[in-house]
Amino acid sequence: MILKDKEILLGISGGISAYKVCELVRLLIKAGAHPQVVMTENASKFVSPLTFETLSQRPVYTDLFARGEKPVLHIELTDKAELLVIAPANANIIGKIANGIADDLLSTLYLAFSGKVLVCPAMNVKMYQHPAVQENLRRLKNRGVEILEPEEGELACGWEGKGRLAEPEVILEACEHLLAPKDFAGKKILISAGPTREAIDPVRFISNRSSGKMGYAIARASKSRGAEVVLVSGPTQLRPPLGVKLVQVESAKEMEKACLKYSSWADVIIKAAAVADFSPKTAPSSKMKKEKLPKAIELVPTPDILAELGKKKKKGQILVGFAAETEDVLKNARKKLKEKNLDLIVANDVSRKDAGFDVDTNI
Ligand code: CTP
Repeated sequence: MILKDKEILLGISGGISAYKVCELVRLLIKAGAHPQVVMTENASKFVSPLTFETLSQRPVYTDLFARGEKPVLHIELTDKAELLVIAPANANIIGKIANGIADDLLSTLYLAFSGKVLVCPAMNVKMYQHPAVQENLRRLKNRGVEILEPEEGELACGWEGKGRLAEPEVILEACEHLLAPKDFAGKKILISAGPTREAIDPVRFISNRSSGKMGYAIARASKSRGAEVVLVSGPTQLRPPLGVKLVQVESAKEMEKACLKYSSWADVIIKAAAVADFSPKTAPSSKMKKEKLPKAIELVPTPDILAELGKKKKKGQILVGFAAETEDVLKNARKKLKEKNLDLIVANDVSRKDAGFDVDTNI
């Protein structure tokens, strides 16, 4: 939603990770944005401009002196755009833009552009750590340019370390952060997400079908809109949202402890987590052998974290709960709203195919 109809200039400099930007273009288009690709001459040695032309359905520009229907290309391109993303940004383009050098189309665009700029460095770890590159990045940061740090790992040059281009999904999220309205600025939001796991023994547990997608999406949107976010999460397969404080927990008891720790800090608490309602009364510290398995496992209720937060609610705090229901959805949700002292409840009919657990849509 945030990127819908946004004009984004996407500058690609020479580096093997230029291939990852193909996926970024796809993601931007899926998000409704209009990416305009500009490549340096060296970038076009790694990936053909035709690839980006095909993906973006627009001409790709590489030459400052290209003519045609656009008489002053760099002004024409920068006037329309709301964001300039440089990915990958190699040491050369970082050096040029940090020092105001404009000797090709991309470096000239940077100078002619007065909007927000996101730089995504990617290079060999020794180059990245070089004082010259670090000094240039600091200079850009001080000028208000957003730097999306490279990731650590195996590099195409054979080295191991920091220098991999951030993943396309992460770059997309950074774009959202830069273009979203900041109407949550100054707000502190505590969000819980995912399932909890209640141990039967060290290898077995009771849990539920929650994927954590809802809580993570709320955390991501809250952060984009300027809030400070603490995300208390049970075990999930999801990438943590950019810029949020992630507190990882496993059991309902651990989630309770983490939520209570941050509850007085928060202006808003959103409890999207699917907390297990029961936990085995005892869990041996060594694995139970098949032949000695008990016939039944005695369960005890877990703490109702939301109800506890409702009792402790401070003045002005907004408490939001979720209700996972399969029947009498509204009636049951209203009951929870009242009994747990909530301000809002999201009633979820989890028996529907397009709602509930582990889906990308919800109702
Ligand atoms: N919740 C909680 N602690 C629990 C159980 C639930 O904080 N031990 C919270 C959930 O995070 C959610 C809300 O309470 O925001 C409602 O959860 P839900 O599973 O729909 O309801 P329950 O209260 O567990 O009741 P039931 O399972 O009987 O429907």
